[in-house]
Amino acid sequence: MIKRTALALTTTLMAALVTLPTMAQPAKARATAKVDLDARFSEAQSSPKLAEDLYKVGRKVAAVCANCHGEGGTSTKPSIPNLAGQNPAYLLEQMRQFADGRRRNEFMEGMIRAMDSDEKIGMVLFYAAQQVAHQPTANPALAAKGQEYFEKTCFRCHGTSGRGNAQIARIAGQQPDYLRLTLHRYRDGTGVRANSIMTPNTKLMSDADIEAVVAYVSSMP
Ligand code: HEC
Ligand code: HEC
Repeated sequence: MIKRTALALTTTLMAALVTLPTMAQPAKARATAKVDLDARFSEAQSSPKLAEDLYKVGRKVAAVCANCHGEGGTSTKPSIPNLAGQNPAYLLEQMRQFADGRRRNEFMEGMIRAMDSDEKIGMVLFYAAQQVAHQPTANPALAAKGQEYFEKTCFRCHGTSGRGNAQIARIAGQQPDYLRLTLHRYRDGTGVRANSIMTPNTKLMSDADIEAVVAYVSSMP
């Protein structure tokens, strides 16, 4: 059953690549997605057998995502985020935000709407278990400035190691262009990505602060 679902997904995703703009799901289905995902995720957390089955589904799904997010979720493109080592609840929340339009990216919105809840949870379990490939900083002096800034503000939620926690995003080792773009989006209130917690935390950052923090955070193991 689960195997067949994964195969169907691959086909759907391939189709999604060409038919994206028409893939919107009815509002009713979207409104119920939150409840289903949470309940199914708790179920997987209390059943090792289910978690293992879903992990396998996730590994198949990841083969499609690898085109952009890299093998095992370490991206090779500085503008596309790593998914490896990312925290499950954060990933589930981002999928909800793409699905209901709070977070805007036309491609990802369509992709996520084409996935059922087992595929989403399987993908989360798979990526959370992968290691991020560490990339040392090209500019240690800039990264040292970034570390100072990080240790004044960002560590409070993302942790001193930048790995977040069950709810908060891991940012350690994240792709530099993606980090820069994301911080600018929160700060500038673009509407592409808004968050009531991150917006105030980026409001006081200058472009130079962002550059320094990006140099540091992207090089954290
Ligand atoms: C064509 C390239 C492409 C493919 C294929 C793709 N993604 Fe993405 N994905 C992106 C881009 C670009 C972003 C960043 C969007 C933004 O914030 O503007 C992203 C963001 C994400 C995020 C948010 C990450 C974060 O740190 O907040 C998740 C989760 C995600 N993708 C999951 C997936 C999954 C699961 C698949 C496969 C089923 C997939 N993506 C396939 C390009 C892609
Ligand atoms: C009060 C808690 C808090 C503080 C302090 C904080 N963050 Fe965040 N951060 C969050 C939350 C919550 C999210 C998820 C927001 C969302 O869903 O878009 C987040 C998301 C992010 C993301 C997006 C991750 C991704 O994969 O797309 C980045 C990058 C980030 N924070 C960087 C920083 C930096 C750099 C600082 C310090 C200047 C900082 N944060 C300070 C709570 C915080």
